Formats: sequence, structure tokens, C-alpha cells
Amino acid sequence: MRGRRIKEFFFDGNNDIINFMETKIRKIDKNQIDETVIQEAGEVLQRGGLVAFPTETVYGLGAHALKEEAALKTYAAKGRPSDNPLIVHIAEYEALKEMAVNIPAETDILAMHFWPGPLTMVFEKSEAVPYGTTGGLDTVAVRMPSDPVAQALIRAAGGFVSAPSANTSGRPSPTTAEHVAEDLNGKIDMILDGGTVDIGLESTILDMTVSPPMILRPGAVTSEMLEELIGEVSIDETLLGDESDKAPKAPGMKYRHYAPKAKLLIVEGDLREEVLAIRQLSYAAHREGRQTGIIATAETLPFYKYGSVKNIGTRENEKTIARSLYRVLREFDEEEVETIYSESFAVQGMGKAIMNRLEKAAGHLRISAGAVVKQQKYRRITFVSGTDSARASMAAEILRHFELKQEYVVDSRGLVVLFPEPPNQKAEAIMKSAQMTLSDHVSRQFDEENLQDDALILAIEESQKSKLLSEYGRGWNVYTLNEFVGDDTAIPDPYGKPLTAYGECFEVLCRLVSRLAEKLDSLVEEEG
Ligand code: TXA
Ligand code: MG
Repeated sequence: MRGRRIKEFFFDGNNDIINFMETKIRKIDKNQIDETVIQEAGEVLQRGGLVAFPTETVYGLGAHALKEEAALKTYAAKGRPSDNPLIVHIAEYEALKEMAVNIPAETDILAMHFWPGPLTMVFEKSEAVPYGTTGGLDTVAVRMPSDPVAQALIRAAGGFVSAPSANTSGRPSPTTAEHVAEDLNGKIDMILDGGTVDIGLESTILDMTVSPPMILRPGAVTSEMLEELIGEVSIDETLLGDESDKAPKAPGMKYRHYAPKAKLLIVEGDLREEVLAIRQLSYAAHREGRQTGIIATAETLPFYKYGSVKNIGTRENEKTIARSLYRVLREFDEEEVETIYSESFAVQGMGKAIMNRLEKAAGHLRISAGAVVKQQKYRRITFVSGTDSARASMAAEILRHFELKQEYVVDSRGLVVLFPEPPNQKAEAIMKSAQMTLSDHVSRQFDEENLQDDALILAIEESQKSKLLSEYGRGWNVYTLNEFVGDDTAIPDPYGKPLTAYGECFEVLCRLVSRLAEKLDSLVEEEG
């Protein structure tokens, strides 16, 4: 076998025979570029091969932009429809004039500010650009990346490198060399591993062939940044929202690109509602034994208890969110999650690009957080007794042992609690005999904060309910436990009596709380 290139044939998902090749992976440090590696990669491109390389946005799958067959190889490796044009990457501004004709005057100022950088501009193509590269279009998309590895490679390849994102068509764009290898190992000649990219979402695409120029894909260069320099720019209205039946102007934007394996749903509302809704949905899934994923932020992470929860970044810096989005989507593909719930993000600045990619990944599936939240009437249940030392706390602990259809914060309060006190010892002895405990309990005074729209307040005795009503008015959900569950078995007061009295009280509480559990579950709207 020595000296012979390893060559095997196998079938891909479409039953096409594809060529298996050895993919060389070369580490490269952008701060200290190893020229021999760049020369090797440049030669591969010059010969018409494929090299994946880092750019500041996402990893690109490089090919020689002026060789028609190189473009065909690119489409085959990605499994990408060949009507989806490639972006030509250049390293010098002068190179633009070889690729494009009728370049409008504003191009200079845009290039001065944003090149090298995450802006792609579309122009009328020159004769030099093969139709293979432009997917048959008479226009060409051109970008000058800022990553030093990308620049060095472009120069080594002769100045013109076509590069789509280096993922299999239909998967999230790669932000690390490992992502590239996951998708393209064995299908391309080489991967330059320059570590994790900086931005994490693909470049902004601006169509310069129309006036005013039109954003075909939002990215890190925002409409505000463009307008500051050249005045009005328009936005392809098909980009956000699913209402439109028109095809997007960038051919690639019509494909459901960034699709994770799981069903992704974007939960929309104000942030508080989003968190409540996702908690509700993930709790329901947990009860039914369905695996869910949650796209959360540093700020909301602690609120989620069920499912595979991933921190996508901080809301204080949307760049952190952009950088992690594709990685998080890929991670979910590795897990067996069926459904992913994502919080949503403000559609401004970089948020436009984030929401555009998220909406595409979700196939525009959205859920109104408000509507979900409305389905659950109560979220907190507070039992109220005189001193919160026995009956209320026992009822709360009994209720916590039920697996309810919805999640509640259950606790207890007293109307006259002068000092926080540990639980009554006889009450605790009875609870222990039933494998429960009040050991975490400390009696606490009821106060205004316990009154919320979503709180159900259940008094142990009628007199306690009356006191609550006279003190706080009638606007709250205040009932006696007996009244709420429709069972008037009196709850005996065991205070000062022997242990058996606590036992009897416990029996009654168990009966009433079990009715309560049934009633709470019956309040849950049956989902269709
Ligand atoms: O950040 C980026 O732009 C990355 C890195 C590698 O540079 N590249 C990238 O390429 O995202 P790709 O092929 O995944 O996406 C290119 C998008 C597609 O939606 C394509 O339809 C659009 O650009 N496009 C390319 N040429 C076009 C043209 N002449 N007119 C309109 N849209 C074009
Ligand atoms: Mg792509």
C-alpha cells in the first residue's frame, strides 16, 4: 500500500457513491502563522482541491473561485443544491475589480470601514467568474475576511477563494474545526484548525446592485452601521417572519439551513413570561418522560430545573449569544432531545442576525409565552395557620409529595409568628413515621408578598380566612382548604394534645390534600 493514496468508495445518504479521501487536519495559530502549512493548503486550492479554513464569522469551505470544477466539488462535499451561489473571498481591495463590474460609488466607503470584516457585497459579475461559482447568476458575492489565516490562505491560493460555510447542507454552520470535521471528514482535502471563531454567525450580505442597497442576510454589520455611512438601506422583507410567500433574494436563505434534529420552538413574550412558560413546558415534558432542551441565558439559567439546559451567553452582551448559537444547536444534536425551547432575543443590532438564524432553525415555529402562562392559574400554594408550626407546614409537606401535572411553589405561613421557630416536635414525629419531614421548615409570618395573582392561599381555619380577607381585601385567591376542595371534614387542632391527636390531624390533612391535588390537576387544560 506504500505510496498509494488510500481510496475507498462508500454510499452516502442519497445512495450516491462518493469518494472517500483522507482529510488532513492542520493546526494553525493566527498570531503566528506557519507559512509551510499555508503553502501546502494554497497548493491544494490551486490544484482544484477543497480546504476548510477559519474566518472571523464561521469556518468556510474554500475552493478556487475561478475554477468551475472546484465549485462543483464544493457542492458535492456539502450536499448543497448547485443553484445556491458561493461567496468569493479576496484579500486585497484591488481584487474586487477583477470579480465585479459596474461597482457603485458607495462601495469604497463601505469597504474602507468594513473590509476586512463580516460584510459581503453583491455586484454584477465580471467575465472572470465562472457560473459554477455564482450558481448561474449574473451577480457575484464578494467578501474580504479579517481572520489572518483566511487572508494568508487566499493569497497563497492566488487571490480568489470561493467559500460557503463548511458544514453539511442543513446543519448549523461550523464555529470550530471539530464542527467541520464532524460534517466533512473524508470528503475534503484539508482542514486548517485555527480554533474557535470570533463572531459565530455568517457575514451580513448587502446587495449593491439595487438602490438603495438591500440587506439579504443580517449579520454583525448591522443596518444601523451601514446607514450611518451611506444613508438608507433596505432589508429583504422575507427574512424575518413566516408570513411572506415570496422567495428571499439570497438563494441560500430559502433553505431551512440551520435545522437541528430536534423540534425547536421559540418562546416569545416578555422575559418573565418566557421563563415561566419554558418552566411549565419543560416540567410537563419531564412528567411525560420526554427529553427537552432549553436555550437559556446566564441571567435565566438558575430558573430551570428540568431538561438539558444550555447557557447561550449573557443578555448584557449579545455577541456572546451570537458566538454560541451554532455550537449549542450542534450540542443538542448529540443529545437525545425531542424538543428544544428557546428564549427569544430583541430584534435590534446583532439581535436581528441572532433571531434570523434562530427563526430559520426553528422553521419559524413560535409559541406565545403569554398563552402558555395563562394556562396555569396558580403557581404558588401557601397554606396559612395561626403560628405556622404544625398544620399548615404539614399540609405543605404532604402536597409536595404529590406528582402534580404542573409545578408549584408550595409553602406555609402563620398569621401570628413572633419569632421564626422550628417545627413542632410531635408534628415532626408523625411526619417522620410517614417518611416525610419538616426538618427544613421554620415558621414564618404571612405578609403582603404572599399575595400574588398566581398564588392560592389556603387557610386551615375559617377564622384565619376571615382575618386574611379583612386585612388584605377580597381581590386575592383566599379560601379555606375545606372550601377549596369541597370537603368539610374538620381539621382538628392538636396543639397541646398527645401524639395521637397529631396523628388524627395528619390523617385528615392527607385526605384533604389528596383532594386538593386532584382539584389542581383538574384545573390543567387538557392539551390537544
Ligand atoms: O460569513 C460568511 O459569509 C461565510 C464565511 C465562510 O465567509 N460564508 C457563508 O457562505 O456564509 P454560504 O455559502 O453559507 O452563504 C452564502 C449566502 C447564501 O445564502 C447565498 O445564496 C448568498 O450568500 N449569495 C451568494 N452569492 C449571491 C448572489 N450573487 N446574490 C445573492 N445572494 C448570494
Ligand atoms: Mg451556509
